[in-house]
Amino acid sequence: MTGLFITFEGGDGSGKSTQAGLLADWLTASGHTVERSREPGGTELGLELREIVLHRRGHIAPRAEALIYAADRAHNIATRVRPAIERGEIVIQDRYLDSSVAYQGAGRVLDPTEVRDISLWATEGFLPHLTILLDLDETIGRERLDVARTKYDRLEAEKSDFHSRVRAGFLALAAAEPDRFLVLPAIDSIESIAAHIRARVTSLL
Ligand code: ADP
Ligand code: TYD
Repeated sequence: MTGLFITFEGGDGSGKSTQAGLLADWLTASGHTVERSREPGGTELGLELREIVLHRRGHIAPRAEALIYAADRAHNIATRVRPAIERGEIVIQDRYLDSSVAYQGAGRVLDPTEVRDISLWATEGFLPHLTILLDLDETIGRERLDVARTKYDRLEAEKSDFHSRVRAGFLALAAAEPDRFLVLPAIDSIESIAAHIRARVTSLL
């Protein structure tokens, strides 16, 4: 028996947690066993790594940053996600290895193939069945976050050109793997996006 691993990707404020929550509620109401997870910070160890990578004061070298995300990912997949999938459950996760390729690769300007290879090593090549990319102009994502909070983490605090490289990085990943990705315009209404996601997930079940 094997479950389903669905990841949500996109810039900050694109609506990932909103849509992940709606999808999880809908699947649970339909009788499925669903686990919610996120990176960084899907496990206890991951919460400690999340605190370091998002909130530590002072510089973190780009390669060190990439390795912290990969370490969080290795532990999350080995101890939480893979066992749940092997039990036949559905795991819905905010962010996964595509975030590393977009933020550390395109954003911090590390080699995207090398960044991806580190995550593939960390997870023994574990890829999602479906990745939903919520594509949004970074200035609109920023406006949404401005309403929702007062403090920004290390990545959110990066300048607009960093976030525009991240967006382009995500779109390049989706273009390279059209079967795994569902790209949706995150400017649409919450309900319309949720309906598109439900339709795609229904076809997978
Ligand atoms: P993310 O997890 O991608 O950072 P969130 O789901 O936390 O994004 O959403 C960020 C903010 O934008 C929240 O205040 C949320 O209510 C709002 N939001 C989410 N989806 C939409 C949408 N489609 N249109 C307008 N606002 C939205
Ligand atoms: P997230 O938990 O989505 O932030 P929030 O809950 O505040 O919306 O992600 C935290 C930040 O980490 C986000 O700015 C993207 C960044 N990130 C990377 O740079 N690389 C990665 O591999 C991952 C998973 C996240």
